[in-house]
Amino acid sequence: MPFWGRVGVVAAAGTAAGAAWWYLREEKERRRRARRQEELRTLALGQGDFQLVDHTGRARRKSDFLGRWVLLYFGFTHCPDVCPEELEKLGRVVELLEQEDVRKGTQKGTLPPIQPLFITVDPERDSVEALARYLRDFHPRLLGLTGSAEAVRAAGKAYRVYAQAGPPDASGEYLVDHSIILYLLGPDGLLLDYYGRAKSEEHIARSVRHHMDTYQPLPMPTQGQKK
Ligand code: NI
Repeated sequence: MPFWGRVGVVAAAGTAAGAAWWYLREEKERRRRARRQEELRTLALGQGDFQLVDHTGRARRKSDFLGRWVLLYFGFTHCPDVCPEELEKLGRVVELLEQEDVRKGTQKGTLPPIQPLFITVDPERDSVEALARYLRDFHPRLLGLTGSAEAVRAAGKAYRVYAQAGPPDASGEYLVDHSIILYLLGPDGLLLDYYGRAKSEEHIARSVRHHMDTYQPLPMPTQGQKK
């Protein structure tokens, strides 16, 4: 075989190997995505519909927030430092996303609206009035939710929130030990991501933005479909 012919064969073989490698990588990625979606569907985390009351006294179900991005945090208003810190961080994440919208020169409001939510794990003390008072210190759009002990427990259970009230002190005050996680729900109400206490507001805002940019509604099984 003349020299250039051999080079051609080698190059062709190289291209074929490259294409095969590329195909395998794509296939692996496709399978990973499919598996992830299947996991989300099976776990159905966050699909539990809550029935609570917001800090203005209005009844709220999770389905009221469909179509909106939601950042959700569970805590209690008597929490000495962790909850205030996390709620401030939540507010700053929302601000960062709004600022980015402005910085990019896009019209304000072109980013999908994001709803910050706070659900109490201490309904006994966190009445509608207590929530309304407490939330004045945080983001103006932060919505607080409370309800009966049962409704609050059901809401937390859907997100596998841990909450355990400690023993009361001499004046009857007590702390509630609880998980410290910020949940991101997509417009179809499914959990898309969650962030622990160590994640900075910049990290969370970047991640939320990434989810918004790459969001594809989950293909949900259609109900009542005609055969
Ligand atoms: Ni707390």
